[in-house]
Amino acid sequence: MKILSIDTSCDETAAAVTDGVKILSNVLWSQASLHASYGGVYPSLAKRAHEERIGWVVEKALKTASPKSLSTSYQLLDTKIDAIAVTVGPGLAIALEVGISKAKELARKFNKPLITVNHIEGHLFSPLAKPRTERSNFKFEIYKQFKNSKLKIQNLKFPALSLVASGKHTDLILVNSIGKYKIIASTIDDAIGEALDKAARMLGFGYPGGPILEKLAKDGDVNSYPLPIPMIGQEGRMEFSYSGLKTAMYKLIEKEKPLTRQKDADLAAAFQDKAFIHIERIFEKALRKYKVKDLFLGGGVSANIELRKRLRRITKKYGIKLWIPYSKKLCTDNAAMIGVAAYFKYERGELLTLDKLDLIDRLPRAKVDKPFPWEN
Ligand code: KG4
Ligand code: ZN
Repeated sequence: MKILSIDTSCDETAAAVTDGVKILSNVLWSQASLHASYGGVYPSLAKRAHEERIGWVVEKALKTASPKSLSTSYQLLDTKIDAIAVTVGPGLAIALEVGISKAKELARKFNKPLITVNHIEGHLFSPLAKPRTERSNFKFEIYKQFKNSKLKIQNLKFPALSLVASGKHTDLILVNSIGKYKIIASTIDDAIGEALDKAARMLGFGYPGGPILEKLAKDGDVNSYPLPIPMIGQEGRMEFSYSGLKTAMYKLIEKEKPLTRQKDADLAAAFQDKAFIHIERIFEKALRKYKVKDLFLGGGVSANIELRKRLRRITKKYGIKLWIPYSKKLCTDNAAMIGVAAYFKYERGELLTLDKLDLIDRLPRAKVDKPFPWEN
């Protein structure tokens, strides 16, 4: 079951070929350096860069996945690929458009069904992706439950929880089964990644700020500055909020100027610590309410070692299995995770035939717990 998948939801032009949950290729052309001086993603620049690069990225993904016996990369698409998958949202409207139109063009040209995927569902399932070299008899196996045709995964119990921590989202999602989700906590202002990016920018560093703060924080003391823990005592509202912490950080930096290397490190450590404590507290609240046995962790911020360490400590305490993407490349935006989510949709029969392609449109504010309009 091979899928060619495309994601242009933000600042990475991405294409991949997957076979079930196995990654045959995962190609990415990052625009981070283009946007670095803006401290965030500049939409019209992103669109132009996607347009320039999408053809090359798709071809490279096909080429990498092709066996030597095939003479051109498009031969793989023609003869071996079962479907084309594309992210339709959430994301930047004009960036999403580029991937969607490429996917439609290829679906028509090579007469393939299309699978539309929610970007967050991709992050959610990124921990299930497996490397190409994985032996076929690995423990993780997907099979259909015959009675109600629900997909089940060996060693995984539903409901499960998913934490998608990225530049645009801080979503805690209850996964009732594959395809059935409920967002139980999300952000009311900035996402965690966005907050880390802004804090790094306040300290005078570039984009993306999350990895920069992570590195700085290693040499800092979390107790050096008294920054507030967001929404302390109000965790029952199940809302994430970073605006208060951000404002406190801004005021603190102004007071501490001129900054030194050690001050940068201490400020980064203190900010990261409070930002993560907020996640830990809401996560524990959710665990007391929903008796889950599995946690999926995904999104760019899930690459952070300190966050992983903290979540590992909590999941251990509650006897929960923590699923983390096998490579950091699967935490940040990529198309292989879209291929994995698409595979589950394929198994559920959620394919769109060529006569339905005109119904498909970008959905910049798509929610993972709502079906797309053309799926109703
Ligand atoms: O998932 P992603 O690539 O894009 C979105 O869908 O938003 O996430 C990007 C975010 C950025 O805010 C970036 O600063 C953050 O993920 N990020 C990290 C790390 N690597 C990327 N944050 C903390 N620690 C990291 N190691
Ligand atoms: Zn993302």
